[in-house]
Amino acid sequence: MDKIDNQTLICGDAITKLKDIPDESVDLIVTDPPYNLKKDYEKTKDSLQFNEYLDFSRQWLKECKRVLSKTGTMYIFMGMRYISYIYTILEQELGLYFNSWITWYYTQGIGKTRGFSPRHDDILMFTKDEKKYTFNLDSVRIPQKYYRSVNNMRGANPGNVWEFSHVHYCNNNRYKHPTQKPEGLYERMILASSNVNDVVLDPFVGSGTLLRVCQQINRQGIGIEINENYVELVKKRLAEPFYGFDSIDTRMKRCPNDLNDDNVRLEYIQKHIKWFLNNHKSAVSEFMDDVCKKYQAKEASNIQLNFVDL
Ligand SMILES: C[S@@+](CC[C@H](N)C(=O)[O-])C[C@H]1O[C@@H](n2cnc3c(N)ncnc32)[C@H](O)[C@@H]1O
Repeated sequence: MDKIDNQTLICGDAITKLKDIPDESVDLIVTDPPYNLKKDYEKTKDSLQFNEYLDFSRQWLKECKRVLSKTGTMYIFMGMRYISYIYTILEQELGLYFNSWITWYYTQGIGKTRGFSPRHDDILMFTKDEKKYTFNLDSVRIPQKYYRSVNNMRGANPGNVWEFSHVHYCNNNRYKHPTQKPEGLYERMILASSNVNDVVLDPFVGSGTLLRVCQQINRQGIGIEINENYVELVKKRLAEPFYGFDSIDTRMKRCPNDLNDDNVRLEYIQKHIKWFLNNHKSAVSEFMDDVCKKYQAKEASNIQLNFVDL
């Protein structure tokens, strides 16, 4: 077991290692297990028989329920083949409460020549209690499309279809792992469903996306991974300097239309950066380009001077 910046990294089999975690000690679980699609994870081949895969899923999900606090939430990534079965296990067998079915939409991926190319993965959000659970909507709002005095300019609910591009092989933050997920996706789930210092678990941590996000937004992450090569990679990743998360929902960079009043616009633009681009400093220039396009270059460059103190 390694402890780095309040992040605990455990090498071993998820079902075995979960048994060491005390009952109800985890506030949030976000995990992206193997989908049984024959991905080569070096140590495991991701190719169980149908019923074997469901049994494996049942076992780790049961442990996850046990360790989850009474007010905790679970987000489970899953591919199309098994998602309905996982849903049934969560709801009918484990008695958890369905909250949301989130579609992660990506514009690029593998191409099919006979059939339609897949462009989404899905994430099931279940809670342990029907009513009592953390949901920090203000931390995950997205910018409004239009300025209207009746709108809540703190932003709108992001909905349940989230567009984030994959972390491409040319991205500086891309690690040698076949199914590395975008940090922006994890950021949204963790901000929404936990608070600072909460314990957040991923029993299939892979390249360490969950721990990297927890490290930057001050949660106590616990990651389990069976492949020791990936564990070494996570340690390196956690030691890297941080320049912002590797992915962002493109809506975060949009400046609302109709911000016509000079004072309202200046105040809004400064708030926008704090509300929506925290941990995404590299996106500020794209946001400012949108400001320039919509409200003329000269004025936007004046506004930019005011950001120095942010
Ligand atoms: C879909 S990947 C997770 C990717 C991760 N979300 C990321 O962003 O890098 C699933 C991971 O589970 C690991 N794994 C497979 N079987 C496991 C088991 N029984 N216990 C722990 N980890 C396992 C694989 O080695 C793989 O790294």
